[in-house]
Amino acid sequence: MLKTKFLGMELPNPVMVAAGPWNRDGKGLKESLEAGAGAVVTESIVSDTVMDVRPRISSDKLGAENIRMYSDIQIEGWEREMSIAKSSGGVVIASISGHTPSELAYLASKMERFGADAIELSVSNPAAESLEVVASHADILFDMTKEVVSAVKIPVMVKLSQNTTNISKVAKAVKAAGGSGVTAINSVRGILGVDLENAVPSLSTYGGISGEYIRPLGLASVATIAQTVDIPICGVGGISCAENALEYIMLGASAVQVGTSVMLDGRDSIRKIVQELEIWAQNHNIENLSEIRGKALENLKAFDEIKFEPAVSHANGVPCGENCNKCVNACMYQAISRRGNSIRIDRAKCTGCGLCTFICPAKKLKLSL
Ligand SMILES: Cc1cc2nc3c(=O)[nH]c(=O)nc-3n(C[C@H](O)[C@H](O)[C@H](O)COP(=O)(O)O)c2cc1C
Ligand code: SF4
Ligand code: SF4
Repeated sequence: MLKTKFLGMELPNPVMVAAGPWNRDGKGLKESLEAGAGAVVTESIVSDTVMDVRPRISSDKLGAENIRMYSDIQIEGWEREMSIAKSSGGVVIASISGHTPSELAYLASKMERFGADAIELSVSNPAAESLEVVASHADILFDMTKEVVSAVKIPVMVKLSQNTTNISKVAKAVKAAGGSGVTAINSVRGILGVDLENAVPSLSTYGGISGEYIRPLGLASVATIAQTVDIPICGVGGISCAENALEYIMLGASAVQVGTSVMLDGRDSIRKIVQELEIWAQNHNIENLSEIRGKALENLKAFDEIKFEPAVSHANGVPCGENCNKCVNACMYQAISRRGNSIRIDRAKCTGCGLCTFICPAKKLKLSL
């Protein structure tokens, strides 16, 4: 039911574990596969390993910020790690990062020789690239992708960044260069917060924000690519449950990746997401998740295509003893009032903005004509 073909690879399910320190070596990769992942992506491998700064990962209840810089295992050490990673079967994708096309091609061909099933080019680390991530430059990305594609026989996917003005343009460059797919998105440049008493930002430089904070950005990036470029997409950013994965799939992703959730909740979260997906598919009579891929795109129009409909909020006659008054307080048009245990809408004042229908915790309000 969850079997997925992605870039020609047969995956038991579409839930991959994303590049990151949880997949820093063969043991971690193997454990992610054994926890039920459809495939795993190595932490990004570079030709010159760097010393990690301390601290480098902060977190709060909505996600994390990191300035972790790539794998600390030299490329030659990955021969040993890959044989451990692949010892009980499963698909292992090698994430590589570098500054020039030839450096990337060298790393890719090494990782292919060590048994990688595919390559993911990581060109979008927000902490590493100062103000400009390489993934903003379609021409540089084209050259990098082309050289890697010609150096290996396995599929090459490119991990894109939301920190770019036109994600379609870079996805088109990947396709034109012969890339087999794209991953969207990497963590997003940000600062998680500031310790006010000591005037200290969450980490000592700008970091990559991940987790729930970035899911809306990831969803929009995947939808934009799906609407403009015919290329397989792996959706990533803020996935912690099956519903989140399904949102990405309905907006056009063929597979998804989970990172921060594995870091904060452990590898059990992989099995949980896969099991929840199975149950959801069963309950919705879905034989294969490809049946719902891109389904929500039909309802995602360009702004100019949206027709005016004179819809208003309806609540009259709906009893509400909950006394939360969220809708009354939120209506900027003073259209909602409470009388005793019921909520009243003044239809003449309601402009149909829709806010009350989203904030009502009991889902009592609806927009209609
Ligand atoms: C601590 C940490 C380290 C990461 N390291 C890498 C990396 O080496 N290469 C890479 O392409 N992405 C890396 N990422 C980005 C993740 O793979 C993923 O794209 C991002 O975190 C968004 O997904 P999430 O919200 O599920 O974490 C890292 C993320 C975190 C939190
Ligand atoms: S739809 Fe907007 S304007 Fe109408 S009642 Fe709700 S919040 Fe007020
Ligand atoms: S937001 Fe919903 S639950 Fe709260 S007062 Fe309004 S109708 Fe009642």
